[in-house]
Amino acid sequence: MIPFDRRTGEIWLDGRHVPWAQARLHVLSHGLHYASSVFEGVRVYGGAPFLLREHVARLRASARLLDFDLEHDDDALHAATLDVVARAGIRDGYVRMNAWRGSEVIQTAALHTSVHTSVAAWEIPAGYYAAADALDQGIALRTAEYRRPSPQFAPVKSKAAGNYMIGTVSKNQALRAGYDDALLLDDAGLIAEATGAHLFFTRAGVLHTPTTRCTIDGITRAQILELARRANIPCTVEDLSPDFVREADGAFVCGTACEVLPVSRIDDHTYEPRRNDLVRRMVTGYRALTTSGEAARAWGR
Ligand SMILES: Cc1ncc(COP(=O)(O)O)c(C=O)c1O
Repeated sequence: MIPFDRRTGEIWLDGRHVPWAQARLHVLSHGLHYASSVFEGVRVYGGAPFLLREHVARLRASARLLDFDLEHDDDALHAATLDVVARAGIRDGYVRMNAWRGSEVIQTAALHTSVHTSVAAWEIPAGYYAAADALDQGIALRTAEYRRPSPQFAPVKSKAAGNYMIGTVSKNQALRAGYDDALLLDDAGLIAEATGAHLFFTRAGVLHTPTTRCTIDGITRAQILELARRANIPCTVEDLSPDFVREADGAFVCGTACEVLPVSRIDDHTYEPRRNDLVRRMVTGYRALTTSGEAARAWGR
């Protein structure tokens, strides 16, 4: 894989399309030093960014939670994204939007900095987010040592770069131990999420998912809840203790990047993803949404 800073194409930076190599920030940027930085990831299916309005709205809300405002309105960011995707001719890919504080001050308080915004997009090579057989075989999760902080201790609803250090360390450790991802508990020891995806369990024909008390409000999770509602599949949103891993008969993760992936193992407890009808229905149901444009229509676009 070519490193991201060596690729070619164009990136939208602060209102202009610039050559990929010139989309740079200075090392003395507040966003780098103090993590005053937020981002979004959007999937592109058949040339169309999926649920783009929701992602742009969350980017704005994430920035507000870190006490800064984006310098472009939703329509401008929407148009910039469509433009970046179209100029690069992306059919099935990924959009990364970032916003961060600039270089006017290098100290904790940052009342008067500029705010920068970028939009970049690229095709996703097969197998980038999960091994080719993961849809069939499922992925293995390892309970992480770090926990998601409570809303009193961090801006957990912000898709803030700073919140991701927990995920990076936890996923690195999980990969080194031979797993595919980490399962994060929250401050109270309840099941929270994976490092870049929300988690659902199945038990006797019912879907169970933790609350989002300590996580971002997942855009994919909302789609899964809506899919279940439309298919009359009972679904409960509740506090789930780690014991639930053994009580469940199956599990899957869901997120923009990984889509819906069955889980085959959590620590030493195994599931049979291929025999789990509910998990399969959610995999195919979400696939149908992303390939048919049905979700976009349902939300009035
Ligand atoms: C930590 C974390 N949790 C959950 C998710 C899933 O959220 P979404 O479905 O909105 O992509 C993501 C991905 O954005 C994430 O990074």
